Amino acid sequence: MSLYHSRIASSGSYLPQRVMTNSELEQMVETSDEWIVARTGIRERRIAAENEMTSDLALKAALNAIDAANIDAQDIDLIVVATTTPDLVFPSTACLVQERLGIRGCPAFDVQAVCAGFIYAIDIADKFIKTGTATKALVIGAETFSRIIDWQDRNTCILFGDGAGAVILERSSEPGVVSSILHADGRYADLLCVPVGVSSNYQKVVQGEAYTTMQGSEVFKVAVKKLGESIDEIIVQNQLVYDDIDWMVPHQANIRIISAMAKKLKLPMERVIVTVDTHGNTSAASIPLALDTGIRDGRIKRGQKLILEGFGGGFAWGGTLINY
Ligand code: UT7
Repeated sequence: MSLYHSRIASSGSYLPQRVMTNSELEQMVETSDEWIVARTGIRERRIAAENEMTSDLALKAALNAIDAANIDAQDIDLIVVATTTPDLVFPSTACLVQERLGIRGCPAFDVQAVCAGFIYAIDIADKFIKTGTATKALVIGAETFSRIIDWQDRNTCILFGDGAGAVILERSSEPGVVSSILHADGRYADLLCVPVGVSSNYQKVVQGEAYTTMQGSEVFKVAVKKLGESIDEIIVQNQLVYDDIDWMVPHQANIRIISAMAKKLKLPMERVIVTVDTHGNTSAASIPLALDTGIRDGRIKRGQKLILEGFGGGFAWGGTLINY
């Protein structure tokens, strides 16, 4: 048994101002509002301004969470940023955020697990706190996913959006982050990827053609299967029954995947935080954005049990049980 535990002290989030509706996408690719809503549940998404970087979104979400926790930024002794769309190849976005918060010296690094990034980041920060290495961790999920979208590709461009969410995880005597499970399976890498990078096909990056490609229906099938198994794993690991869960806070990829997971947990949709309609899929930012939405509108209350879950490129996936 660990001497220390971590709990969520506060949350924060930030969305870029620009709203892109489905009707705008109808002008760009052969699609329809009706198709997008029926197949994904998405009605609109936010798009970062040209001069707005992932670190800008991350910083605003972080300040929002710091304010809500009523702490000084100097109290933070660990920064973990989950992102697939860092400002730069390096330094990490976490280091850029650290500098802008005026913090010196604490460890700061990025985590890359695409849409499962926030689940990975929470688990890592929880382990720093459990081992006594950190006492107040700033954990952020932030993306400018619009930058790696081919706006001519209707298979992907209707799905994604930009945003950031953050939590302050702090040392506590009782478990707040109860347990996490993480999985990955690289066999599926080709089904969802940006097939270029720094050490492969770099010319395409230079030409501005680093785009997300996806075989949607294949991804869909594996996502439903693996997320379902993960939920059972969390329930069994913690000796719970489905009815113990107050809220599901899922990655917001597709309302049909979210509904399938709610059904699996035997949760009515009234106990699921859904933001996919207005945020789209914001990758690593989607879970903390949904969490902050549920906390700030008063639905998620102290003492309740939450399951956070996410699935994405890699494939990488996982879930976390939280006593909020
Ligand atoms: O966050 C990371 C994890 N990502 C996910 O979990 C995404 C998982 N996948 C999905 O959410 C869904 O597979 C999509 C929303 C991407 C697609 O929905 P689907 O029900 O799997 O559709 P589909 O790919 O099987 O396509 C059905 C039809 C096709 O036409 P045909 O071949 O039946 O004539 C597509 O060409 O819909 C067509 N289609 C579109 N039509 C209008 C594909 N994209 C569009 C579009 N607008 N944007």
